[in-house]
Amino acid sequence: MTVLITDQAQAAMDGAAGAALTVNGLTKHYGPILGCQDVSFNVAPGEALGIIGESGSGKSTVMRCVAGDQDASSGSAQMSSVDGGRTDVLTMAPSDRRALRVSELAVVYQDPSEGLDLAVSAGGNIADRLTAAGWRNFGQIRERAAELLDRTDVPLDRMDDPVRTYSGGMRQRVQLAKALANRPPLLLLDEPTTGLDASVAAGVLDLIRDLLEETGVAAVVVSHDFKVIEMLTRRCLVMHRGEVVEEGLTDQLLEDPQHPYSQRLVGAARG
Ligand SMILES: Nc1ncnc2c1ncn2[C@@H]1O[C@H](COP(=O)(O)OP(=O)(O)O)[C@@H](O)[C@H]1O
Ligand SMILES: [Mg+2]
Repeated sequence: MTVLITDQAQAAMDGAAGAALTVNGLTKHYGPILGCQDVSFNVAPGEALGIIGESGSGKSTVMRCVAGDQDASSGSAQMSSVDGGRTDVLTMAPSDRRALRVSELAVVYQDPSEGLDLAVSAGGNIADRLTAAGWRNFGQIRERAAELLDRTDVPLDRMDDPVRTYSGGMRQRVQLAKALANRPPLLLLDEPTTGLDASVAAGVLDLIRDLLEETGVAAVVVSHDFKVIEMLTRRCLVMHRGEVVEEGLTDQLLEDPQHPYSQRLVGAARG
């Protein structure tokens, strides 16, 4: 099989130069419990990088440290959109990190209540993000919210209903709409379709794939499911017990996994 490597993916594999996100030696301990250890990777602009591993392997820990939901124990994370990548975002002041979450990176969580205020309408959730980003004109905010909800297939006649009245699939669509509202250069997706019914999950996955392509946002996609990683990413890391045990092109990794743990994961995915 011929594997095409885009210039962007090649650049990410070659090193940090020009990467949207460069994570180096990221380690997190929860007291005596290891969250992740010495995790390093680059994401090129416009690239979607996958992180796969079974439950407890440290995937969410990596995401949460990069997103600023949790403090890392050590390591660094540089984003090219921040200061050309000179500043380590892991050590920024908390107020600066909160600002980063509005302007430079957005997160889509498995649990919509982490990314959305369920008591507030879909339109209100998006308006909150736009307002935080400095939008002031009510008409423009409303127009942008409607545009995003339309694009993510959320019925506009539900736009003013509280998100808690929505189905699981619709909540994830609203999370995506909100995450992309302000066109961030980096998107982190942590198990975005886990817990949804298979047919609903498939629709949300299609949407994510299309949005990644349309917006050109750099993304990190975390999942325990190879189907998700295969569909959304060209390159991925395999995590096991907090560490990266293998890294490669997703197609090749699925076809010819090298590490015994990756072989086990791929075997399980094939059923
Ligand atoms: N808030 C926390 N407090 C203590 N231990 C945690 C916490 N979050 C995660 N862990 C532990 O860190 C390890 C990695 O968890 P996590 O990053 O959630 O893995 P994954 O997302 O791959 O399922 C697991 O052993 C988990 O029990
Ligand atoms: Mg997780």
